[in-house]
Amino acid sequence: MDKFVVRGGNPLKGSIDIGGAKNSALPCLAATLLTSAAVTLHNVPYVKDLITQKRLLEDLGATVLTPALRTHQVTADHIDVFEAPYHLVKTMRASVLALGPLLGRFGQARVSLPGGCAIGTRPIDLHLQAFEKLGAVVSLESGDVVARAPQGGLTGTTIDFEKITVTGTENVMMAAVLARGTTTINNAAEEPEIEDLADLLSKMGARISGAGTPTIVIEGVDELGGAEHTIIPDRIETGTFIVAAAITGGELEIRHCRPDDLRAVIAKLREAGVEIEEKDATTLVARRGPGGLTSRDVTTEPHPNFPTDMQAQYMALMTQAEGTSVITETIFENRFMHASELIRMGADIHFSGNTAVVRGRTPLMGAPIIASDLRASASLVLAVLCAEGETTIDRVYHIDRGYETIVRKLRSLGADIERVRQGIEAATGEMPAIPQPA
Ligand code: UD1
Repeated sequence: MDKFVVRGGNPLKGSIDIGGAKNSALPCLAATLLTSAAVTLHNVPYVKDLITQKRLLEDLGATVLTPALRTHQVTADHIDVFEAPYHLVKTMRASVLALGPLLGRFGQARVSLPGGCAIGTRPIDLHLQAFEKLGAVVSLESGDVVARAPQGGLTGTTIDFEKITVTGTENVMMAAVLARGTTTINNAAEEPEIEDLADLLSKMGARISGAGTPTIVIEGVDELGGAEHTIIPDRIETGTFIVAAAITGGELEIRHCRPDDLRAVIAKLREAGVEIEEKDATTLVARRGPGGLTSRDVTTEPHPNFPTDMQAQYMALMTQAEGTSVITETIFENRFMHASELIRMGADIHFSGNTAVVRGRTPLMGAPIIASDLRASASLVLAVLCAEGETTIDRVYHIDRGYETIVRKLRSLGADIERVRQGIEAATGEMPAIPQPA
């Protein structure tokens, strides 16, 4: 398994381009299963989860061309397998996004129960209840979820999600676009990625209104066609680089982002003393303010509030802020695994249940640490960038799932970070090298 070796202390400076949103590209790639026509997606980030999703589409029988590194053209005109196998689902929970489109278009789908990040129990009961409400028969067979639509397909209905679920909302949208009649989703997730998926589906001929609000209405159509779509910028990568500028005391110009998609993060970071200038609608400049960083409490909540996917990075920043901050995680259990590694580096963090209390500011020292999930990895990288001495981060394959060429990007900004490849395991767990321009 690969490691990162980092010698902290360099303020990051320069300009960085944000890639496409992983969490938008995943459902958009799944949506290509809804039509036999070609769908072209641009700005698909070059990260491991998307390589897995492409592999899944190919396993199902779709043809996926990549005329450019971040452009995928998918033609799902010969789908002859309706199953997402365990070996893919276990590495990436988002494989469950195949359920909605397969069920909607072909009336059948089989997906192994999901794995993904080790951040506690992540059930899909709400997806399944919604499919049943659309008329599907859902059963569990040998660890797989099997869903079948009745003769004549799914029928539109009203889905009242008892809890807000992002991929659940996306799965139901994709199942409902080809259903008979109208589907109303209440208590829908409002994340920008939902709107992006709705944009793509509308370009394919779907009739959807209300995406980005708590109520989404979908009028079923008989079939969908081809489309061309550009994935929105990744708001979590954007937030991570803002924190990188602040935690290292540097200054970053962050380009090709959408500040409007991370208002709660920007507001909280400003409160904590980070200067964030909005140069234009897609460019930010971030630096630590002259007064230094001040502790501020945060609670993770569904969009438009502070996202759970920024909680770990925010905790790293709070170790460098004056005062005490209380960080409350309301979305996932077991999502403080980065905290114990931060403590090993010298942070003063006490946690119990879903609350962590961070007392700052504490100097961080290099130590061997282990990344436990995607966002925890980002938090640890940020912490070691401002730590004294050399730090080795183990199990960095987690970060490859969602951050494109993170080492190269950080090095281009002045970070002293290198990836150390280890033996045969690296050959199987490593991202293929990005082709270099001639
Ligand atoms: C998505 C994101 C992930 C982000 C999360 C919350 C993708 C690919 N992943 O994950 O990065 O951290 O949203 O913003 O977009 N729940 C149930 N039953 C269900 C579904 C969810 O109880 O059937 C619970 C979950 O356990 C969790 C909460 O609902 O407590 C929210 O989960 P959900 O929004 O579904 O997260 P994901 O879609 O898996």
